[in-house]
Amino acid sequence: MNILYIGSGFVGACSASVSASSGHNVLVYDIDEKKIQMLGSGDRDTIESCLFEEGLCDILVRNKERIKFTTDYSDIEKFLDDCDAIFMCLPTPEIGETGESNLSYYFDAGEKLAEVLVSRNNGKQEKYIVIVNKSTVPIDMIDKTKEILDSAGVKNYGIVSNPEFLVEGKAIQGSLKPDRVVIGAWQEKDFEVMRRVYQRFYDAPAVEYIEVNPKEAAAGKLMANYYLFAKLALCFDVIGRTCESFSDLKFENIRRILTNDNRIGNWGFYNSLFAGGSCLVKDIRSLSHQLQTVGVTASLVNEMYLANKRQLELFLSRAEKEAKFDWVGKKVALIGTAFKRDTNDIRNSASIDIVNFFREQQTSEIRIYDPAAMDNFKQVYPESESIKYFNHEFEAVKESDVVIIATDWPQFRGLADAMIGELKNRPLVMDGRRMLQHRYEDLQNAGFDIIAVGSPFIEGRVLGLKD
Ligand SMILES: NC(=O)c1ccc[n+]([C@@H]2O[C@H](COP(=O)([O-])OP(=O)(O)OC[C@H]3O[C@@H](n4cnc5c(N)ncnc54)[C@H](O)[C@@H]3O)[C@@H](O)[C@H]2O)c1
Repeated sequence: MNILYIGSGFVGACSASVSASSGHNVLVYDIDEKKIQMLGSGDRDTIESCLFEEGLCDILVRNKERIKFTTDYSDIEKFLDDCDAIFMCLPTPEIGETGESNLSYYFDAGEKLAEVLVSRNNGKQEKYIVIVNKSTVPIDMIDKTKEILDSAGVKNYGIVSNPEFLVEGKAIQGSLKPDRVVIGAWQEKDFEVMRRVYQRFYDAPAVEYIEVNPKEAAAGKLMANYYLFAKLALCFDVIGRTCESFSDLKFENIRRILTNDNRIGNWGFYNSLFAGGSCLVKDIRSLSHQLQTVGVTASLVNEMYLANKRQLELFLSRAEKEAKFDWVGKKVALIGTAFKRDTNDIRNSASIDIVNFFREQQTSEIRIYDPAAMDNFKQVYPESESIKYFNHEFEAVKESDVVIIATDWPQFRGLADAMIGELKNRPLVMDGRRMLQHRYEDLQNAGFDIIAVGSPFIEGRVLGLKD
């Protein structure tokens, strides 16, 4: 089949590459020239510095004959004459803090596309084509998509909602072996087209292939994200907070008691300073906004959002309250800038708010390390007198007065050894991911004060070393 992707971000690029690996001919269009050049470069380092997703590069190189990247709309015009499906993979961010989805990227791309769809097959529009909403969109988006296409005079088309459930950091792995594929359509012939697009999954015994209507598909995606977000918020705002508030409760032990109940399950039991990323927060905000628009109070949805916000505020405030730490003039190490491990994505990452907090507190130097996301972070916070980037986590930690671990990269677990063995000073350790929990006692015995999500304040024991 011939498939066009509009938007080559995490979703567009990953989904397009999996389509190519399924044997389809794929054209990927984006307005971002640099991104298109990098993704189409065929060079591993270039592709990875653009989108750090394990397996993406291999799949792109292996299928280079079947996947093309372009910013030139005339390529689309030619492609449309024999195109079976178009996947819309556009950003749908929140407008300010309103919860409302910004659909302008969608409308811009949709209107431009509609103009050329009407002239396909020399204006005869003979080829039946399916337009697929792949982005996470409001429940009634399908009606808006139809309006755009109808008002431009597009004929002989179907519309489908096919929400994406990929997990950043495991996007390719997850897209090659999804738990479920959800297709929302009104007409059988659109389901038929989608079954051909996803033949490898339609026939696969381990994949749940779910056919519903387009609004159910869009709503299902929003509610899945609400459910996941709620689990994270419960983990740190209820379980973590309880462990912080009573002595002798180890978060990992409580977790084991809970996760061994099949009804509870084990996803989401990571204590963290913040649940960031481009999706979960904006999607629950969007759900809340949509409910309120139809007159429903979305108290529980809103409370989860607030729980996440207060988690970061509480965590940062503990330095002053519990360790009597004065930030002014201090050197601070920020370990991890990606919103989570295995990605270079910094959208809505706690690290952004942390740097703003450091600045408000008038720290003297911010020392930063991340194994994959530093280039993206430098675009927001360029290197300067007060912001320094390092090539190793321990280099950033050296000479710092406080160390904040903000991302759960596995290698950060090794910091405890280096800190105990090699550091002369004793910075305050703020573990926002419980990465050093296996060594809290050793760190404490070596004189480090520790503030960790899910633990009460841990005061260093060898007091003489602190000065
Ligand atoms: N990132 C995820 O983990 C994930 C998972 C599931 C669903 N989603 C949803 O998928 C959608 C896309 O997410 P993403 O992470 O891929 O976003 P992204 O920001 O990484 O990518 C979007 C791409 O669209 C391009 N674009 C913007 N306007 C355009 C236009 N007019 N024409 C062509 N291209 C245009 C941008 O340049 C960008 O490359 C969002 O709705 C998101 O909520 C994301």
